[in-house]
Order: sequence, then structure tokens, then C-alpha cells
Amino acid sequence: MADASQLEADLEALLQQEWFEPPADFVRDALITDLSVHEAAERDPVGWWEEQARALDWAQPWTRGLVDDDAPFYRWFEGGKLNLSHNCLDRHVAAGLGERVALHWHGEEGEIRTITYAQLLADVERCANALKARGVGAGDVVGIYLPMIPEVVVAMLACARIGAPHNVVFGGFSAESVHERMAFSNASALITVDGARRKGRTAPVKSEVDRVMDGLTHLETILVVRHTGVACEMRDGRDLWWDEALAAAAPECPAEPFDSEHPLFILYSSGSTAKPKGIQHTTGGYLTGIAWSFKHVFDLKPETDVYFCPADVGWITGHSYIVYGPLANGATSVMYEGAPDYPNQGIWWELCERYGVTIFYTAPTAIRACMKWGAELVQEHDLSKLRLLGSVGEPINPKAWAWYWLVVGGGRCPIVDTWWQTETGQMVITTLPGAQRMKPGSAGTPLPGMRASVVDEEGREVQRDTQGLLTLDRPWPGMLRTLYREPDRYVSGYWERFGAPTYLVGDASRQDHDGYFWVIGRVDDVINVSGHRLSTAEVESALVSHPKVAEAAVVGQSDEDTGQAICAFVTLRDEVTGDDAMALDLRDHVAHRIGKLARPKRIIWAGELPKTRSGKIMRRLLKDIAEGREIGDVTTLRDPDVMGQLTQAMRGRGDED
Ligand code: WT7
Repeated sequence: MADASQLEADLEALLQQEWFEPPADFVRDALITDLSVHEAAERDPVGWWEEQARALDWAQPWTRGLVDDDAPFYRWFEGGKLNLSHNCLDRHVAAGLGERVALHWHGEEGEIRTITYAQLLADVERCANALKARGVGAGDVVGIYLPMIPEVVVAMLACARIGAPHNVVFGGFSAESVHERMAFSNASALITVDGARRKGRTAPVKSEVDRVMDGLTHLETILVVRHTGVACEMRDGRDLWWDEALAAAAPECPAEPFDSEHPLFILYSSGSTAKPKGIQHTTGGYLTGIAWSFKHVFDLKPETDVYFCPADVGWITGHSYIVYGPLANGATSVMYEGAPDYPNQGIWWELCERYGVTIFYTAPTAIRACMKWGAELVQEHDLSKLRLLGSVGEPINPKAWAWYWLVVGGGRCPIVDTWWQTETGQMVITTLPGAQRMKPGSAGTPLPGMRASVVDEEGREVQRDTQGLLTLDRPWPGMLRTLYREPDRYVSGYWERFGAPTYLVGDASRQDHDGYFWVIGRVDDVINVSGHRLSTAEVESALVSHPKVAEAAVVGQSDEDTGQAICAFVTLRDEVTGDDAMALDLRDHVAHRIGKLARPKRIIWAGELPKTRSGKIMRRLLKDIAEGREIGDVTTLRDPDVMGQLTQAMRGRGDED
């Protein structure tokens, strides 16, 4: 790869290739090298999952693998008891692995903290005791609003240890979002930080949180990690410094066994209404699903591998494959506090070289950013230890796949394109790297024990190579169990359409003649921006809460960098003009209400929105405008002139730089 034009030519050649064989060197040592595992699981899916569950430590064995009497409220490993933090920590320490590094933490300014399994266990026990001392017990929800620092891992495991379901809020969300999520989940404690660092700057966090905590009477404790040293007020009787609370706590906290179906966490994710969904996962099945998939999809050899996933723990990827999956398997991980372009755009590769990363897992949007920054930044580093690459969050375009394969993987590393969701808890569709060939752009086939189909509107399976709705056809252990305090919404959102056991995914997909699945994207009002899920309704509701906005409609629009981008059509109140300053104001407002990632990239000033005679906004037409394609059927519009005006307005739109 001497120069840019040579690289282009090499990528072009790769794009001609439909199939990629797993490299022979990889297959030689792979854990799984053929499809016999799929076949075994297919013969008896529940029995097969039970076999995988036996790899964990159970304090009491289960009596039934899967209970479906109350479907779609499925229960896995009924009667079984276990402690998740015991499985991630104590059992490894007991097996003599206490000195193994669990986390190589790397701070934004290059600080290094090396944390062994024994140290992690010690901190988790103290943190668990500190929470207990504040009256937090099994079933009490604990909010976690922390940046990518080791304390976030300690906090999650401490909650798991005492059976307190955690509710992690992504650090990029606003304090308002934290308030909303703490209120919805009735949290009794919140673990946060004095301030967070982002690209060389620090931002206050605790004081922001304080601003919105009024009215949360159930929130009795705020535990504050000292991280940036930025000043904040500590309210007597409610707020505690993390370091002081842990130092004062008793060092030993025995891991108490909980029911397999004991709630482990709630994670709020966007749905098709403005109110996020509290996706609830439980203990035994979830741990079985992520422990098995982490090990076998990433072909993990815990003695020698070093794993790096630069996502954020605030998303399901972080829960399942930064925290629980790696720790359940006794793996060594790299955890990076900073942004992918700070202190420079080569930081990920610098970290891969420094820590000898062997398995790397990121999102297509990040790969596309790296492509833009240039192959040299990758090639400057010795990445010869890398042996497996993973992708997650959105479909990967073949060009990005080819670049990832060639520039990052040097043509030696299989790529696993893993399709899954916050709801599925664990990976669902992917190839197994030593056993299956890859097709760039396709995630592959369902993992052993799982079944997926593509169906039409009536739920009939469509022909191969035909687009339809993706469904999952049988329960799996890592699946969500309900929506927190909204069981009806759980049933209506996922199961009512086709009836249990058919789970409605919400994605369009097609299965090709080789049985490989190609995921196209969401079919609901959910937008996928940089692999992050956002609801159009949530952004609309933030926009209309601005005093100068009369009405707003939000649609997703294809975007070269972020997959999809947010496009907002906004009608302002009388005598207010839509100009750049106004657009800026609206973006800030949305950032404040939800978080920076929800800021509309494009704002179009609309005198009026296209509506049906009954007053329903016709988003389909707005999408046509946003995508710049021919406008569809307008016969049901109340006022067809609106479309002409909107097309005009596209010229005066306010795009973000
Ligand atoms: C939605 C779920 C899974 C963790 C990150 C996102 C899309 C996810 C892929 C993939 C194509 C993908 C789907 C899915 N998606 N992975 N490999 N190929 N699409 O979790 O926020 O719950 O979003 O992300 O549309 O439904 P999430």
C-alpha cells in the first residue's frame, strides 16, 4: 500500500469479491471451525442453551430451562440461583487468576490504570457495601451516569452483586435525560462524577445533575466519583464522595445468590413515541447469552487475547461486550476514556499497538471516520497482534468493510458483523469467524440456537432475496423480559403483531439465496445516527418545547458519515424568522433536552407541514424531500400546495457545518 491510489485500487479489487474465506491461520486455532454447533443447537435449542449455562457458576441449579407458559413473558433457567458479579470476579480469583489484568484503562491525557481481577473484586465489594450502608438493597434501582472510567465498571458490578438493578444513562445525554430516566425508574440512588473530560476540556457533571434533581424524592443517595476536581456542592445527608464511602465501607461483601430471573438492569432506549422504553434484562439467561457469544463470536483465548471495544458503557454494546461478556470470560480489555480523535486521530491504533490488542470491535460510522482521516494513521502503528475485527450498530457498507479488512486487519483478520439490539441483549446474527465465510455488507446467519425469518405484512415468510420484516422466531436467553413498568407496551411493541413466539424486530431485511441476512434498517420512527438509536418523536417533542416553535416533524435522512442524520421540518410561531441564529438556538435546545447527538443536522423552515385531512403529518413525504427523491402520492394531502412550498424551503434550510 505505497500510496493512496494504490490503496484505492486494492479496495476496488476487494469490492469485486462476494465471499471472503476465514484466513487459514485463524481457522487453525479457532474454537469453532464448522457448523456442527449450529446443528446440535437446532436439534434441541433449549437443551443446548442449558449446556452453555453450565459454563457458569450456579449456587442452585435450575429446574426448567425455558418456561413459556406465560409467553411472551418468558423465563429462563427457572429455579436456578446465581450471582452475576461472582461469575465475573470471584470465580476467576478463586481459580488463581486474581493477578490477571481485567482492565487496561487509558485516560484522555494518557494516564494509565492497570486493574487486576483481584483489585476489581476488592473495589466492587466495598462499593456494594457502601450502597448497602445507604439502604440500597435487592430490587432498588440505582442510576449510573459516569464517563468511561473504571468506576463505571465497579458501580455496575456492585449493583449486580447486591441485586440492585442498574439504570445506566449514557454520559453524552443531558442532565434532563438523567432526571427523566431516574423518575421513570424510581431510582433510589445515583452514581455520578464531579466532572467529565472531553477532548481536553472538562465539563461539570454533578452541578448539572443538581440543577434537575428537584422532585426526585425517592432518590436518597448520590455517590460522586472525584475525577476532574471541578467544584460541586455536596448536600448533607444525600451526597457522598465515592472514595470516602468506599474507604469507610467494610471490605467483604459476600455474593448473595439471586433468582435467575432477578432483574439485572434497565436500559432506556428510544422507541417510536417520545417516551423512551425501559428495556429490562435479567440475570441467568442474559449472562448465559453474552458469555457464550462473547467467547465464541470473538473466538476468545482469555490467556492471550486483549480485547478493545471503544464504545460507551451507556449503550447495550457497553453493557454486554465491554463489561459483562469480557469479565464473565476472564478476558483482558482496554478501556479508553476519550474520543476517537483525541489527542489525535490515531489514538485507537496507538492503543492497539501499546496494549497488544488482538480483538477489536467498533461501529461502521467510526470506521468511515477513520477512512476519512487516512490510512497512514493506521499504518504508522504495529497492529500485527490483531487477529479478529468486529462491527456493530448499523449495516456496514462494503467499502468500509474492505477498508477495515485491508487497512486495519491487514487481510489476516476475519470480520464479524454482529446484528443485535438493546432488546436482544446479546448478538443474534453474525458469522462465526472460524467456521463461516463472510459476505461484506451481510451480517450472516443466526447464531446457534437462534432463528430468524423475513416475513411480509401478514407474517408469511417471503421468498429468498425479497425484502420484508425481520422477525426472531424463538425465545433466546439474553432477550428482554419486559419494559420496566410497561408490560402492555412490551406486548404491543414486540409480540402483538405476529403473536409469540414471533418477536417483531423493527428492521427491514432480506435473506439471500445462500441464507445470509442483509439488514436494511429500521421500519419504525427510529433513526440510527452513528449506530445510536434515536426516536423521531423524542426529538420532535424537544423541538416543540422551544417557545418559538409551533410545530416540528423529524425524519431520518441518509448520511455518508453517520449512516442516518436527523432532518427537522420546523414551523415557527408568528413573527419569528428561521435563520442561522434560530437554527443554532434550536440545536442547543435539543442538546440541552436530550443530548448533543440528538441535534438535528438539517433544519428546514416550513410554513406548514404536509398533513392528511385528519391532521396526521405525512412523514413519508417529508422523507422524500429530505432524501431528495421524487415525491410520492400526495392525493391524501389536505393541501397539496404545501409540498411545493417545502421543496422551495429546502433552499433556505439551515444545515449544521
Ligand atoms: C438497531 C438496534 C446492538 C448494539 C448497538 C445498537 C441496527 C445493529 C447492526 C448490524 C445492521 C444493525 C438495527 C437494530 N443494527 N447492529 N450489524 N447490521 N444493523 O443497538 O440501539 O438497540 O439498535 O441497530 O437496526 O434494530 P440499538
